[in-house]
Amino acid sequence: MSDQSAFDTDVWTLTRFVIETGRQAKGATGELTQLINAMLTAIKAISSAVRKAGLAHLQGIAGSVNVTGDDVKKLDVLSNDLVINMLRASYSTCCMVSEENKDLIVTPKDKRGKYVVCFDPLDGSSNIDCLASIGTIFAIYKRAVGEFILTERNVRIKPKGKIYSLNEGYAKYFHPSINEYLKHKKYPEDGSSPYGARYVGSMVSDVHRTIAYGGIFMYPANEKSPKGKLRLLYECNPIAFLIEQAGGLATTGTQRVLDVQPEALHQRVPFVVGSPDDVNEYLSFVQKYS
Ligand code: AHM
Ligand code: MG
Repeated sequence: MSDQSAFDTDVWTLTRFVIETGRQAKGATGELTQLINAMLTAIKAISSAVRKAGLAHLQGIAGSVNVTGDDVKKLDVLSNDLVINMLRASYSTCCMVSEENKDLIVTPKDKRGKYVVCFDPLDGSSNIDCLASIGTIFAIYKRAVGEFILTERNVRIKPKGKIYSLNEGYAKYFHPSINEYLKHKKYPEDGSSPYGARYVGSMVSDVHRTIAYGGIFMYPANEKSPKGKLRLLYECNPIAFLIEQAGGLATTGTQRVLDVQPEALHQRVPFVVGSPDDVNEYLSFVQKYS
């Protein structure tokens, strides 16, 4: 038989990757594998629910707002329940932090494991009704020791991109350093071409593109949101970790995102991530004003 078959029969699924690396890890108990598998199940179910949203009449405002003041859609509620229930049943968590729950979610004693999982079950939820990409963000910490788990290999971000990504509708409220940086991207005076602008409004999509093509994604502070919008524990930290693993940078403008000491479950931070040259260039504009 030729090996030119139409199907790749030796693909690296996430489950295979987790089992393989788990076997190589010294002292591994399998708890992390259980956790990731539970998360995978929840994500597959969320994905299926999102696809069926129209049919299942899950679209539309659920009639309440989440703890950070945003409209909660039914899909958010469903996604949140799925993640909590799957993780709880995996015997791998001791507590969880969700964008949708004001308080810490403590795992019942008989189901407790050693991990803390912080998640946004459905990020970009304002995009549900227009069928743009949305996604689940999660960070896994070992109890007491802050630690993230790498789930992909060899993903690299370009040192410099050609795209800037932010909600420029807030320009009136931005600090002058940000507007000056944006002006420099649009009207470069060094003979280089202006950057392209892209903004989906789902961070998961905007960051995915930033990792794939390079460039910069920003959700800086503005007068209306003095700390920005995005939450440290389950939006910024996991994305910052992925970006850094890929060779990029993640900053609040004054410090590395992963160095921020968490002070509250739903704490917000200004967030700028992307190709290292682009982020450093942005920081040089910040420094001019400090
Ligand atoms: P959400 O968690 O309520 O969906 O909010 C987070 C989302 C991010 O995905 C995105 O970057 C940002 O909100 C967009 O906000 P804005 O509409 O202010 O540009
Ligand atoms: Mg979110």
